[in-house]
Amino acid sequence: MSEAFPMNGGDGAYSYTKNSQYQKLGSDSVKEMIQQAIIENLDTKISNTVAIADLGCSVGPNTFFTVENLIKAVQKKHPSKTLEFQVFFSDHSGNDFNTLFASLPPERHYHAAGVPGSFHGRLFPCSSISVAHSSYAVQWLSKQPQGAPNEGRIHCSDAPEAVLKAYSDQYEKDLGDFVSARGEEVASGGIVILVFAAAPDGIPHSEILTSVLYSYFGHCLMELANEGVVEKKKIDEFNLPLYDPREGEVRRVIERNGCFSVVKMELLYPLETREIEVGSMIVSLRAALEGVFMACFGSSVVEKLFNKMLTKTDEIAKRLESVHDHAQLFLVLKRK
Ligand SMILES: C[S@@+](CC[C@H](N)C(=O)[O-])C[C@H]1O[C@@H](n2cnc3c(N)ncnc32)[C@H](O)[C@@H]1O
Repeated sequence: MSEAFPMNGGDGAYSYTKNSQYQKLGSDSVKEMIQQAIIENLDTKISNTVAIADLGCSVGPNTFFTVENLIKAVQKKHPSKTLEFQVFFSDHSGNDFNTLFASLPPERHYHAAGVPGSFHGRLFPCSSISVAHSSYAVQWLSKQPQGAPNEGRIHCSDAPEAVLKAYSDQYEKDLGDFVSARGEEVASGGIVILVFAAAPDGIPHSEILTSVLYSYFGHCLMELANEGVVEKKKIDEFNLPLYDPREGEVRRVIERNGCFSVVKMELLYPLETREIEVGSMIVSLRAALEGVFMACFGSSVVEKLFNKMLTKTDEIAKRLESVHDHAQLFLVLKRK
């Protein structure tokens, strides 16, 4: 069964709206590259209406900057045409679409629609989309990897080989489903742009920034278990459904699918790991992860978990000195 854990809605202290600056930094770093990719490669038969989709858009504001950039690029590609844009903001049905709609830019030059549903399946009619974009979303697995015991841990970092394989298999299946669905929805000559955290081949998960942070959540939960706050069995049974792949895993999935040619696939380093302020990173992660922890452990444990993480900022900062610099993959696919 697929699981959905949207980001924190609203505009409170732990909302995604107020805590998505790291993702914005990543998206800003590829703004020009996105423009260039669209201008040089978008090749759909354009009538007067262009359909653009942002998949895993969350609540904003990042999605609005993204969409504006995509529209600007398509307009530059067709300077002599008067185009109308239909923009689909898509995310899980539990996403806070009210906040998204309430903050739509009033001066926008597009028609906006919300599309609820998982991007691991079909969301749009066949060949109806010219540009599909997704940033910092495909790291979410459709469900917790299962079948391999992972005692005292909640992620594949530092875990036995069987756990790592369960994660990798689930990731390849999910990314495969994502690419298959886009293969049907994106018109011939259309573009898919993906931006997400990833790592070069050969880097172990214990050296990937996000995996290290996830494993710290596991350590903190274990401390809470020793304090009698949470049952250890719950930790043993829980696997955080997030995975940052290595480049080769992504390439394998795209090639296996066969619907797309790879226009660009580049690992970029928008932020040096040592520039990360760990305290603000933990608050940022709270906006994204509170929901998934809440579903398994309940709200009082979650409060203690994030407080405990915040007491470890110095230790985590020291540990991060030895991890690989945080990388994101910029991937542009063209529908054959
Ligand atoms: C970290 S947010 C990224 C939001 C935005 N794209 C950005 O760059 O700021 C990840 C989003 O992906 C969504 N998401 C995760 N899995 C999804 C799925 N299977 N289908 C649709 N949306 C999904 C989450 O609900 C969340 O809103």
